[in-house]
Amino acid sequence: MTELAYVNGQILPIEQAVVPIEDRGYNFGDAVYEFFASYRGRLYRVEEHLNRLERSLRELHFPPVSREEIRDAVLRLYEASGIERAGLYLQISRAVAPRDHAFPATGAPQVIMTVRPVHEKPPELRQSGAAVITVTDIRWARCDIKTVQLLPNVLAKQQAVEAGAFDALFVSEDEVVREGTSSNVFIVSAGRLLTHPLTPRILPGITRQVILDLCKKLALPAEERFFSRNDLYAADEAFLSGTVTEVLPITRVDGNSIGDGKVGPATQKLYSALREDAGAAEQAS
Ligand SMILES: Cc1ncc(COP(=O)(O)O)c(C=O)c1O
Repeated sequence: MTELAYVNGQILPIEQAVVPIEDRGYNFGDAVYEFFASYRGRLYRVEEHLNRLERSLRELHFPPVSREEIRDAVLRLYEASGIERAGLYLQISRAVAPRDHAFPATGAPQVIMTVRPVHEKPPELRQSGAAVITVTDIRWARCDIKTVQLLPNVLAKQQAVEAGAFDALFVSEDEVVREGTSSNVFIVSAGRLLTHPLTPRILPGITRQVILDLCKKLALPAEERFFSRNDLYAADEAFLSGTVTEVLPITRVDGNSIGDGKVGPATQKLYSALREDAGAAEQAS
């Protein structure tokens, strides 16, 4: 098991991997990323992540990047690591070029990756549920693109940590609950699962879609529909979804209990179903 980095075709130890100071990802946040996880020696939902990556690159008018080359590089780095339960971070910046806002006339996209063991969520969070706070969504209007410009997310997460909570949920000026700082959010209300529709205001989470598909399979009524902060406060259950977050119960919001304050049955069912889908069922609690 080895933690490794990848820089434009070269695999090397993480501490030896460096990027040039004029990388546009570094200067402008002009870069996109993906985060893959593996279960039992296999990366999960690779094609879905590549689809979203291609979309991010297209929306930001990046020069062409070969999907096949990226897939090969991801798999090659993962195999080289030998890590069963890994988190693989991939970032593509537009170019290395003298600092100028407009796209450079020359220069190729820069591909970097790291792979290391997944930083698992503490088991007590999974058993008892997480506390979250709500914060005003001050992000830009293209949160559907997975860019490295994450300062509002960083500030909101820090605010949550300082408040003794696990995460923060972004809420719009007109009270719509959007998503977490690195996860999507679902509630269960009147027997239905609700999650924010796909708009430019949220990231189209891979796990979010897997959960919606699992709901169909399990005959759990689910809807992509806006819900408010008050709907969240009044929900029977709530949970976060994400590649590493998986299905993480929320049992407190802004200091108030959700439902009876315990992890609910739909949340438990979907956590188990997701783990099963990922080939990790035996490890599910
Ligand atoms: C803002 C945001 N929303 C949602 C997600 C969940 O997406 P996924 O399920 O693809 O990990 C992430 C993951 O990084 C995220 O950063």
